Amino acid sequence: MEDNACLPLGPAAWQPVRFPMPTLKFAVLAGDYIGPEVMTEALRVLEHVAQQENLTLSYTKADVGGAGIDNHGKALPDSTLKLCEQSDAILFGSVGGPKWEKLPPKEQPERAALLPLRKHFTLFANIRPGLLYRELTDASPLKTERIPDGIDIVCIRELTGGVYFGLPKTTTTLADGDVQSIDTMVYKKSEIERILQVAITTARARKKKLCSVDKANVLETSVLWRKTVTEYCAKHAPDLALSHMYVDNAAMQLARDPNQFDVFVTENMFGDILSDEMAVICGSLGMLSSASLGAGKNSLGLPFGLYEPAGGTAPDIAGKGIANPCAQILSVALMLRFSFGLDAIAKRIETAVRSAVTGGTRTGDIAFGKPSVGTRAMADAIIANL
Ligand code: IPM
Ligand code: MG
Repeated sequence: MEDNACLPLGPAAWQPVRFPMPTLKFAVLAGDYIGPEVMTEALRVLEHVAQQENLTLSYTKADVGGAGIDNHGKALPDSTLKLCEQSDAILFGSVGGPKWEKLPPKEQPERAALLPLRKHFTLFANIRPGLLYRELTDASPLKTERIPDGIDIVCIRELTGGVYFGLPKTTTTLADGDVQSIDTMVYKKSEIERILQVAITTARARKKKLCSVDKANVLETSVLWRKTVTEYCAKHAPDLALSHMYVDNAAMQLARDPNQFDVFVTENMFGDILSDEMAVICGSLGMLSSASLGAGKNSLGLPFGLYEPAGGTAPDIAGKGIANPCAQILSVALMLRFSFGLDAIAKRIETAVRSAVTGGTRTGDIAFGKPSVGTRAMADAIIANL
C-alpha cells in the first residue's frame, strides 16, 4: 500500500487509499445564488486534476435548499437524500437567501436542508481551517504587524449537538398571554469525547497545541465539557499542550492575536460564531473551506463527509460572475483528502490556489484596490497553476 495519505488534519486512523485509484463517487449539491456559480468552477478544476491524475469521476447533481423548495417542494428532497446515501461524499455549495426568507423558520433552506443533512449522516466533526496567506495580509481587518506571516489555525467545531439540536425546542403562549421560546443545550460525555478525538489527531499533526473553548463559568454543559476534555487528554493525549479558554475571551483573543491558537475545539454554537470571526480575520469568507465528517465510513472505508465553503449564498453578487470560487475549490481538496484518501492531490490543488492568489489573480473580495477578475478567470488561473 502506497502511503499517499499524510493527513495534516484529522484522525490518523483514516486509511491511505489503495491503488489503483478509486472512482470518486460523490453528490453535488450546489444550492442557491452563487452556489452553482462557484460549484461550476470547482468541478472544472476537479475535472482538470482528474485528467492529469487518471482519476475517474462519477458525480451526480441534485437540488437542495431553495432549489429543492422550488423544484420539489422541500429544502431536502427525498431524491437528494437518497443520492447522498448512495455516494461516498457530498460536495455542497450554499443554501438560502431572500427568496425563501418569508417561509416559516422550520422550512427555510438552512434549517430544513443543511441541519438535517448533518444530523442524518451524524456529521459531528466540522473542521474549518483558518488560513490567511502571508501575501494576503492586507485583506485582513487586523493590522499586518499583528499577523506578519498571515494566519494558520484550525477550528474544530462539534456539529450535531448542543443548542442547535437539543429538545425541547418550542415556542408557546403562556397563560398570561406572554410568549416564551425554549432552546435546549445538551451534551453527552461521549459526544464530547468523539469530537475531542478529531481535535487531538489534528493537533498532533500540527503543533501539538490544543485549546478547548467553553463557558464553564456559567453553563452546565460547559462544566461537563471542560471536565471531559481535561480527563480525556490527561489519559489519552499527555503529549499535547492543552489549554482552556472561556468563549468570550476566545472571541477577544482571536481578534488580538489569532496565531496564539493552533487548533481549538469547541461546541456547536460557539464554533459557529468563532469560525465566522476567524473567517473575517482571514480576509474573506470566499477563501475558507470546511469539512464535516461523520462517524460513518464510505464504500472506500474512509470517512463519509460533507464539504462546503464557509461563506453563504451572497445574493447581492449572484449572477454577476464575480464570486470568489476559491473556498469551493479548497473544499474539493478537503474532500479528496478525507473521503478519498488522496492527500497529495489535495495538496496540489491547495498549492495551485495559493499560487494563483499570491501571483496576483484576485476576485473583488480580496482585491483591495488592485485589479480584480471574475469567477471563471480565477478558476482559469488556478487551473494554469496545476
Ligand atoms: C455554518 C452556518 C450554518 C450553521 C447555518 C447556515 C445553519 O452558519 O455552517 O456555520 O449555523 O451551522
Ligand atoms: Mg455559521
